Amino acid sequence: DWTAESFVESTIAGLKEKIGDDKVVMALSGGVDSSVAATLVHRAIGQNLYCIFVDNGLLRKDEFEQVLESYRHLGLNIKGVDSKDQFYSALAGLTDPEAKRKAIGRTFIEVFDQESHLIEDVDWLGQGTIYPDVIESVSVKGPSATIKSHHNVGGLPAYMKLKVVEPLNTLFKDEVRTVGKALGLPDAILKRHPFPGPGLAIRILGDITPEKVQILQEVDALYINGLKKYGLYDQVWQAGAILLPIQSVGVMGDERTYERVVALRAVTSVDGMTADWAHLPYEFLADISNEIINRVKGVNRVVYDISSKPPATIEWE
Ligand code: XMP
Repeated sequence: DWTAESFVESTIAGLKEKIGDDKVVMALSGGVDSSVAATLVHRAIGQNLYCIFVDNGLLRKDEFEQVLESYRHLGLNIKGVDSKDQFYSALAGLTDPEAKRKAIGRTFIEVFDQESHLIEDVDWLGQGTIYPDVIESVSVKGPSATIKSHHNVGGLPAYMKLKVVEPLNTLFKDEVRTVGKALGLPDAILKRHPFPGPGLAIRILGDITPEKVQILQEVDALYINGLKKYGLYDQVWQAGAILLPIQSVGVMGDERTYERVVALRAVTSVDGMTADWAHLPYEFLADISNEIINRVKGVNRVVYDISSKPPATIEWE
């Protein structure tokens, strides 16, 4: 029978044998998969695992510092790379969702390539690929997978001649969490909602500017912290805020305002393939709407997304 403990034991032994004294480079995202994969490789080869965590300027508020800190706490050999400006320049003026994804994917590869060349004699690329990613990338030629070009898999540029090591590529998401628990990873990592690779860039409809990112980070932080405060965070599969490219009229005191609209999204789901909009309590929605409008300058209206997938998707782009 499959148990997390026996998986951990045999995987670590297998990694030791396979990698030996070689070096491995790995990009971490703060998500469950890459964190669990890195911890396994780290248990096998220690400081010969070189982890890289890139700040693409599209993460949640304070996420870069917090995630970096928790990786250090786990003992990982991790380097934080601030590449915000590089991503913002690559995104400047782009409005098409797929063009934004491509620019982000390309920039990420540039940064990662540059960083891995700073490590002497690295032979392996570690990846947090899980079984459903393998299946999805096999079907990449079919029409359904090109609806949105996820860039988690196959991120290996041809000019980087690294061998690939993917310790989780036979596991489903719930098994990855069980393995993470057996490895002693904290709930802050294991129970984290999924967050897309392109980050807030696909939750800001239209073009990306650092100012819009900052507004959305504030809104998103209030929303996510509110969900946690109300004990709702663990009951939804994924949640986030979307900055809409429209302004609407409001009143503040006796002034007329003409400011931004944000949409809140929360879904329940098993695997993200289908999803239901989360029936969040009205009191929570009322409170969070007030808090966002009162505290985030430039936002005067909050709406809640009541669409399910299909026919809508979880993200708006
Ligand atoms: P959709 O919007 O397709 O999202 O219903 C399903 C799940 O996939 C995530 N998602 C992405 N993840 N790169 C990623 O790494 C992407 O380009 C991307 N687009 C969507 C989304 O957050 C949800 O969990």
